[in-house]
Amino acid sequence: MSQLIDGKAAAARVLAEVKAEVERLHAQDVEPALAVVLVGDDPASHVYVRNKVLRAGEVGIRSLEYRLPAEASADEVLEVVAALNADPAVHGILVQLPLPKHIDEVRVLEAIDPGKDVDGFHSENVGGLSQGRNVLTPCTPAGCMRLLHDTLGDLSGKHAVVVGRSNIVGKPMAALLLAANCSISVVHSRSVEPEKLCRLADIVIAAVGRPRLIDAGWIKPGAVVIDVGINRIEEDGRSRLVGDVDFAAVQQVTAAITPVPGGVGPMTIAMLMHNTVLAARQQTG
Ligand code: GUN
Repeated sequence: MSQLIDGKAAAARVLAEVKAEVERLHAQDVEPALAVVLVGDDPASHVYVRNKVLRAGEVGIRSLEYRLPAEASADEVLEVVAALNADPAVHGILVQLPLPKHIDEVRVLEAIDPGKDVDGFHSENVGGLSQGRNVLTPCTPAGCMRLLHDTLGDLSGKHAVVVGRSNIVGKPMAALLLAANCSISVVHSRSVEPEKLCRLADIVIAAVGRPRLIDAGWIKPGAVVIDVGINRIEEDGRSRLVGDVDFAAVQQVTAAITPVPGGVGPMTIAMLMHNTVLAARQQTG
């Protein structure tokens, strides 16, 4: 029987640690605060932002929401970011992606103070991660690492295959696994026979956004599979969420696997809260 990796329980453990750190900060008259900037009316982004704000409240982090209309100019977004950078009462800044097409995302992300960049997307943090420096790291890959350490302990010498090469998940995931002494392969849409490489992996991270792309033929028996995908599909006349992994088939061969939902999803928000208290501690300590 394959172990089901419980992301909700793991997230609850992280949030309990975060809450304790928030209480220590409060005792030192520091009120950790996270600013979330949302531009436009992408429905999924609104749901994500609402969940982030709710979770922050639960652990005692103050949250500030800045909503701009879809027509907002890049300069208007940059003005908000500059004001938040300058405000010592704000410790974390998150600009929800995607931004409307007319705004250059990289330009906005690069404008965030790297010390307040709780997404870990600023080039200074991206570079720091690849150099093995202790910087703010992207929340979803950091959450995946927690789940892997909880499941496997030491990851040294494991062969990990990352499916997908996005800036938000695939690339930082590969950097974190390398820092944890894994051998890594990254496969993507131009890879030739990616399933052959994947089948050599002790650890598979699926982050491509293609519903049930990965079936049992991709997986070595006994591997650990982390499914980052959250895809909404219509099936049997109803709407449901599925991962990038064909869960029912793949769990027949894995040693351990994350479900969707209830796997990586809850960890992402928990790690955002973790990054926010880390940023608050670094800015005030
Ligand atoms: N949109 C989808 N995922 C993310 C994320 O991790 N951070 C931000 N800022 N936007 C996102």
